[in-house]
Amino acid sequence: MTRPYVLVSNRGPVRFDLTDRSDGPELTAKRGAGGLVSGLAPLVSRTGATWVAATMSEGDRIVASGGGAEAEGMKVRLVDIDPATYKMAYDVIGNSTLWFLHHGLWDLSRRPRFDRRWREAWSAYRDKNSAFADVLLEMSPHRAIVLVQDYHLCLLASLLRQRRPDLSLVHFHHTPFASSDLIRVLPDDAAHEMLTGLASHDACGFHTSRWAHNFRSCCDELGITSPHTFVSPLASDPQDLSSAATSPACATELAWIDEHIGDRRLVARVDRIELSKNLIRGFIAFEGLLERWPRWRNKVVFGAFVYPSREGLPEYLAYRHEVESVVASINDRWATDDWQPILLDTTDNFPRSIAALRRYDVLLVNPIRDGLNLVAKEGPLVNERDGVVLLSTEAGAFSELGDVAIGLNPFDVSATSEAIAGALELPHVKRREMAQALRVRAAQRTPADWLADQLAAAEQPR
Ligand code: F6P
Repeated sequence: MTRPYVLVSNRGPVRFDLTDRSDGPELTAKRGAGGLVSGLAPLVSRTGATWVAATMSEGDRIVASGGGAEAEGMKVRLVDIDPATYKMAYDVIGNSTLWFLHHGLWDLSRRPRFDRRWREAWSAYRDKNSAFADVLLEMSPHRAIVLVQDYHLCLLASLLRQRRPDLSLVHFHHTPFASSDLIRVLPDDAAHEMLTGLASHDACGFHTSRWAHNFRSCCDELGITSPHTFVSPLASDPQDLSSAATSPACATELAWIDEHIGDRRLVARVDRIELSKNLIRGFIAFEGLLERWPRWRNKVVFGAFVYPSREGLPEYLAYRHEVESVVASINDRWATDDWQPILLDTTDNFPRSIAALRRYDVLLVNPIRDGLNLVAKEGPLVNERDGVVLLSTEAGAFSELGDVAIGLNPFDVSATSEAIAGALELPHVKRREMAQALRVRAAQRTPADWLADQLAAAEQPR
């Protein structure tokens, strides 16, 4: 008999909001953004599993107090966490510490600083993991497989293991994993607690063997026995993508893009405004194209469809300002009466992002480090112009697409300009060949394969 499973992540697949109506407030559900949700939501809605996530809004808290809800075809159970505890755990530990650690984002001469406030935040992180554990202890069916997602919930398995030995616990890390040198930056006790928590799973999965290797090296470095590890890159759901690409909303957005860029070539990117995504070097590389290849002036537009993220963190707000000012100065320098070289769109508009993926001639995916990068797979699946993908060698997706995309060193701005120029000038036959190969490769795995890998990993003997 197949075993039931429960999916657990910090951000849920839907967000509940209270909307004012004439007859009183109404609870509405909106599907969440982000790679995890777009990859897994269609799958979970088909299999009837429960998705457990943290409360983030007042609407979420009402749902949590009612024991759960069904939305977008999914059973959702929300864990009520006091907002101040949540904020410390999410902002200080999840995003300023663990995200920076795994993506190598610290400027070590200045950050991090593990002070008293940080210690309080670590304790909030423990409390958050323990609130998830309480809900899971109570609601997980007998012999269920609990699929724990990401760095926000590293301590969960230690809290479940003894009390529910019937459960199988599988962790999946959607980010890169720090090298064994960098793990040494964390306070010893916190590094130990985190890795012991991860090692309490039956298995830990990663998008690529590079991150799995780093995880095992970190365990070795701290003398912790690594659990079974496995590699299972996530994939986009082709049906879900195709219905988004053929929707009337996407057609409207495609017309909007065409109106702004005319019949010029489009270099596009679709990302969160996120430090690891390397937006600024991308813009500087595009300016290098205009400088060094004057024939492309007025013939190409860089469409950056990038939406705000984690604005509770000063680093992200500052990064957004820097992005805006770099774009403004490039546009000031190069714009003509009828051409603006960079179209920076910071609205969180999913149909427009998909329209950009349909329309690109070149897709720039140049993160400085990325667990996978689903956009690199989604682009080729919906693109209609035999577009070329320029892909950072530091994205997990490079291990799957590296031989059919054009590889980039994300730090090498001159080489990135050259890669953009080369991609724009590739003969059409060659572009078609590459786009076809990318489509085949991007469609090779589905979210169902990813799920099957997680469930198989749960059967590992301990
Ligand atoms: O890479 C990890 C991840 O969870 C992605 O799935 C998602 O796009 C992103 O982080 C979202 O982060 P947050 O929940 O902080 O907005």
